[in-house]
Amino acid sequence: MCGIIGYIGDGRASRIIVKGLKRLEYRGYDSAGIVTEEDGKLYIKKGAGRIDELSKELGFPEMPGKRGIGHTRWATHGIPNDINAHPQTDCTGKIALVHNGIIENYRELREELLKRGHRFDSDTDTEVIAHLIEDELKSGGSFEEAMRRALLRLKGSFALGIIYTEEPDKLYFVRNESPLVLGIGEGENFAASDVPAFLEYTNRVVFLDDREYAIIGKDFWVVKNLDSGETVEKPVQKIGWSLEMAEKAGYPHFMLKEIYEQPRAIRDALHGNAGIIRSVAEEVARYEKIFIVAMGTSYHAGLVAKYLFQRLAKKVPIVEDASEFRYEFEDLVDENTLVIAITQSGETADTLAAMKLAKRKGAKVLAIVNVVGSMATRIADLTLYTHAGPEIGVAATKTYTTQLTVLTMLAIELARVLGTAGEEYLERLEMELNTVPELVERVLKHDGSLRELAEYLREKRDFFYIGRGISVPTALEGALKLKEISYIHAEGLSAGELKHGPLALLEDGVPVVAIAPGGKTFDKVVSNIEESKARGAYIISIGNRDDLGKVSDVFVKMPEMDELLTPIVYAVPLQLLAYHLAVLRGNDPDKPRNLAKSVTVE
Ligand code: F6R
Repeated sequence: MCGIIGYIGDGRASRIIVKGLKRLEYRGYDSAGIVTEEDGKLYIKKGAGRIDELSKELGFPEMPGKRGIGHTRWATHGIPNDINAHPQTDCTGKIALVHNGIIENYRELREELLKRGHRFDSDTDTEVIAHLIEDELKSGGSFEEAMRRALLRLKGSFALGIIYTEEPDKLYFVRNESPLVLGIGEGENFAASDVPAFLEYTNRVVFLDDREYAIIGKDFWVVKNLDSGETVEKPVQKIGWSLEMAEKAGYPHFMLKEIYEQPRAIRDALHGNAGIIRSVAEEVARYEKIFIVAMGTSYHAGLVAKYLFQRLAKKVPIVEDASEFRYEFEDLVDENTLVIAITQSGETADTLAAMKLAKRKGAKVLAIVNVVGSMATRIADLTLYTHAGPEIGVAATKTYTTQLTVLTMLAIELARVLGTAGEEYLERLEMELNTVPELVERVLKHDGSLRELAEYLREKRDFFYIGRGISVPTALEGALKLKEISYIHAEGLSAGELKHGPLALLEDGVPVVAIAPGGKTFDKVVSNIEESKARGAYIISIGNRDDLGKVSDVFVKMPEMDELLTPIVYAVPLQLLAYHLAVLRGNDPDKPRNLAKSVTVE
């Protein structure tokens, strides 16, 4: 996830762009850059670091020109450094562009362009686009036609801002699966990833849809379809948000915004890893002894991975709390060991220490990380990125479901490499995994009823979350989300454990949240629900089978899907329930007491 802002008008473009970038910093903050144009010459300044520092160091506000584009980066391909920062340019230096998204087929395109004599400065997927347009320009036609031809060859997600020296009165912006909105002013126009970037200047906006591009000038704007090149009529809408609301895209908290971003984040995780999952699975397949180390929510993702590996690849990894691993397993780690470290921040001290220990003992380390260039990625031999974009809310939401997405991809591919599951089934599962973003979108529709449920539950003091098999980690994660932001005591446990002690705590009205997708243990979970009900518990069940409704006080109906995909989708109602309970109890869910986003002490 990155932020884009473009300006064309009579003002000093660079100053307007710097202000816009500051408002987009929540979308990424590892590097930034600006391109402006004056008298047919492009001025480019960029570097790794935060916008304020770069602005002072490089003198962003002093850049000349009345049109320009800025970018704040959240690295996806290529570590955050000065060269990989955007804008990226072609060989002639006449085209400069910025990009938010992931180009899946950039490796093939790069190879092809290298053969045709193009030279690349950066490791980014973005630079390929500039060269591709340059290449198409050589085949003739207008810049717009060349740009369209080039963009039609891209696979993946992209929002782009493009400037071309030979067309001094225009800027181009393109959207495909990454957000982009135009700001319509008087004698000036804007485009950005998000409204707050220009809300200070105009509240009249045009939202672009996927596979549309816009050409904006000082006094005009037009939107066209990328595939046909035909003009599309777009309504101008007035935004009624305050600047503060707009930074959160109209959501009251970052956590809620991030919960709603999950369909997009999961899509990016799928696109971003499609090209490399095979080679990583081949490496994983070589190991018999596999440890998964992580903390908190990431540890829950590790627990889900255990079930996925067991069921699909017939491999049984040992999942260990990273803080325990170092002390308990030191003697068991050697060069025949694979350690998979899961950490969204890539900076958690316990997880880093476990990784370092593994390296010292000669083990291979695979990291599953959200933050590009973080410490974990530097220690690991191999890294899979979750592509969730920056997560500002302290409680992990989209970073968790994208971890699960990547782990599911890995388990499927591993089963394929090892031949431990039928190809027909794996293909079906993979196809279903690709529909998970839509399934999550459907589940988000439960938001209103989960808020009502939270109203009813707001004074409760204890919650129990139960599940069986692959739903046990979901129960643990539901309980963790609730306690960390609502400060209500909650326990997650395997439903089978209830009778062995915790049942003593159940009395009239105590909420029991049962995670009950279908599967071989469904009837057993129903029995556990009945047992809880008989002790007066208030049953909230999450599942797909209508018979659950009969034994529950509240039934949250989920779409049908393979049981192995339920950890991703079923996490969503649990996040929403925790969020609403936190807000109704007067807490700030983005900044829970005593907690920090990355825990850099052991
Ligand atoms: C809970 C949460 C934490 C983190 C844990 C590990 O919502 O976010 O439990 O999961 O601190 O953090 P990472 O994944 O950054 O290593």
